[in-house]
Amino acid sequence: MTESLLELLQRACPNTLPMHMPGHKRNTMLAPYLKTLAAELDITEIKGFDHLHAPGGVLQEAMEDAAVVFGANRTFFLVNGSTVGILAAIRAVTAPGDSVLLARNCHRSVYHALALNSLKPYFIYPQTNLRYQIAASLSVKKIESAIAQHQDARVLIVTCPTYEGVMSDLTAIIALAHRHGLTVIVDEAHGAHLGFSPYFPTGAVAAGADIVIQSLHKTMPSLTQTALAHVRSPALASEMQRQLSVFETTSPSFLLLASIDGCVRLIRQRGEELFAQWAAALSAFDQKASRLKHLRVLGYGKERGRNLENVFGLEPSKIFISTLNTNVNGYELAELLRNRFSTEPEMITPQGVLAMTGMGDTVFTMERLGDSLLAIDRELTPAKSVKVPLMAPEMRITVPIATAERAPFILLPIEDTEGYVLAENITVYPPGIPVIVPGEVMNQQAIRYLLAAREAGNTILRSRSDVDGQVAVLRDS
Ligand SMILES: Cc1ncc(COP(=O)(O)O)c(C=O)c1O
Repeated sequence: MTESLLELLQRACPNTLPMHMPGHKRNTMLAPYLKTLAAELDITEIKGFDHLHAPGGVLQEAMEDAAVVFGANRTFFLVNGSTVGILAAIRAVTAPGDSVLLARNCHRSVYHALALNSLKPYFIYPQTNLRYQIAASLSVKKIESAIAQHQDARVLIVTCPTYEGVMSDLTAIIALAHRHGLTVIVDEAHGAHLGFSPYFPTGAVAAGADIVIQSLHKTMPSLTQTALAHVRSPALASEMQRQLSVFETTSPSFLLLASIDGCVRLIRQRGEELFAQWAAALSAFDQKASRLKHLRVLGYGKERGRNLENVFGLEPSKIFISTLNTNVNGYELAELLRNRFSTEPEMITPQGVLAMTGMGDTVFTMERLGDSLLAIDRELTPAKSVKVPLMAPEMRITVPIATAERAPFILLPIEDTEGYVLAENITVYPPGIPVIVPGEVMNQQAIRYLLAAREAGNTILRSRSDVDGQVAVLRDS
């Protein structure tokens, strides 16, 4: 397709009388916000602009072009984030009641898909890295034994990279799963930029995953909510299309679709140059990071090239700054960055701060981050004692999720729930990974984790209870 979606919008919109949605009618004189938000180009599906759920025109062409760029058999544009891709993908490869194998550190949307389809999950916990106190790579051996143990599971769902940029050996994992006849879905929400330049590792499409979901908006220059789903076989693609039409809006924003198209074209036309610029910005940060005395940055500065326990690999767009070796915690570091250097991190944990980079970063932004960290670092002192690891807990599940999440419940203060079976999903945001899912038995490690997150002011999302400090447990547990 030669004309971009944006060019098509710019050509068609001013000349047509819009007797259709949206109600602002592209009249930007109505209110200033409409002008600022580009309402003059804001349309949904009308003649000449194709249908996202039954593509056969410009959208089909744009998606085919994207499939070529990303090396996929079929690519879908998504306007409800990776979330909708994950819901549709899981639904596309399972029937109600099926068993699935999944990494326990999957995003909450995966858990919502389990509940929607009454799936029976077998969890595979990622390994941990104690130097950083983060979830590390998935062990191929653990996956192998889970496959052997749960032969009724036909689907494997994993997240790679993690929020912190930890990679797993996807090539080995996917080959193993395929040898056993499993379909593999990879949540690559944080890795839409992988595989385009030697500076970043290759991603899940190249590793042979059956369905790969990517949030274009997280790392690439595309508007918030834009994402892609790549599918490996035509049969799976037909089912994916059907399921997307269940979960995704019937009024897709063409501003979002034009943004996806623009981003794909940018990669095709200027990818090499722009990935090289991003890499140069990260190298500039690396030089600053090498002068840090107390803060440690995963994969950067003095930590670059370090052999990390249970870590198969790292992708360098994520900058995870560990405070474990210092007299502050992640929340305090975030406050310093926010208040003194007007810098807002992506994610804050007791262990550190995640600064997320994207293609829009420059040597200037990355040096500014590096200089801010150096200024803070000069005022820090070493930790007085070894900090007690506070990591997402390992849980035991005794009641099926689908049963527990609908069963009668009572509310109890978090600190009094040890031994009770949880009746709801509890997620600390970010990273949006459920700490507890319904049917799991509360333990001391989970209680400590939740209390620390609450004290630090993190958002704790609960699916059923709404009383501060209390959680829903099964009435009969
Ligand atoms: C691992 C992972 N998967 C999926 C999602 C959902 O992505 P989106 O916000 O694009 O719907 C997120 C969001 O943070 C995520 O971290």
